[in-house]
Amino acid sequence: MKGVLLAGGTGSRLAPLTAVTNKHLLPVGHEPMVFHPLRKLQRAGVTEVLLVTGREHMGDMIELLGSGRDLGLSLTYRVQDEPAGIAQALSLAEVFAAGSLLAVVLGDNVFEDELAGPCARFREQGRGARILLKAVPDPERFGVAEVREGRVTRILEKPERPPSDLAVTGAYFYDARVFDLVRGLRPSARGELEITDVNNAYLAAGELEHEVLAGWWTDAGTFPSLLRANALALGYPPPDGLG
Ligand code: G1P
Repeated sequence: MKGVLLAGGTGSRLAPLTAVTNKHLLPVGHEPMVFHPLRKLQRAGVTEVLLVTGREHMGDMIELLGSGRDLGLSLTYRVQDEPAGIAQALSLAEVFAAGSLLAVVLGDNVFEDELAGPCARFREQGRGARILLKAVPDPERFGVAEVREGRVTRILEKPERPPSDLAVTGAYFYDARVFDLVRGLRPSARGELEITDVNNAYLAAGELEHEVLAGWWTDAGTFPSLLRANALALGYPPPDGLG
């Protein structure tokens, strides 16, 4: 299995912190944000990783991470010229993937759980897709999964009225058919190729599996969630009390 770390986007929700640096280089705990998902991949045994980020900050990213050696990784880099969505960034990984199964992680996601278990279960699954869900108090900020009788029945991106409290976290497992599925997508209302549409395509094909995380999880792309990520990463009670 190979890894893809998606670290693009403008980070506009964290302006002006992101005026001259990439969101994923901001501190979470004792390290830059991007170290957290990279370490999860490494500890899951996924050491060949493609990192995708925008052109403005690729230099900083390479200066920070180099070959990946210090983190026990072998890193490859690709530039996403325009922030055109998570699925568009993922499409840049096609040549790198070379037919392998993929573990895709968003650079602003911080997980308590290790990814080794889900990785092993996806290897066993062998094809299709697998997503990781977490119950949250503010599901409207995320992709939200409706689960009935143990199966995901639909996923809605940032719904006004969420059908459940189960957020779709930013760790996804795909087989190599994901690139064909992305080619079939149309941009959403916000002009992006949405990862939720990729997951719904697998769902429609009957090939979407899921699991619900036991440990805490947070993104770090807004001021409240960045604060929360820092508290959790440092082992303090989170400001909202929701550990
Ligand atoms: C993205 C995805 C969303 C997912 C979230 C996880 O949202 O579109 O489905 O739940 O990441 O962090 P974004 O925060 O990029 O808007």
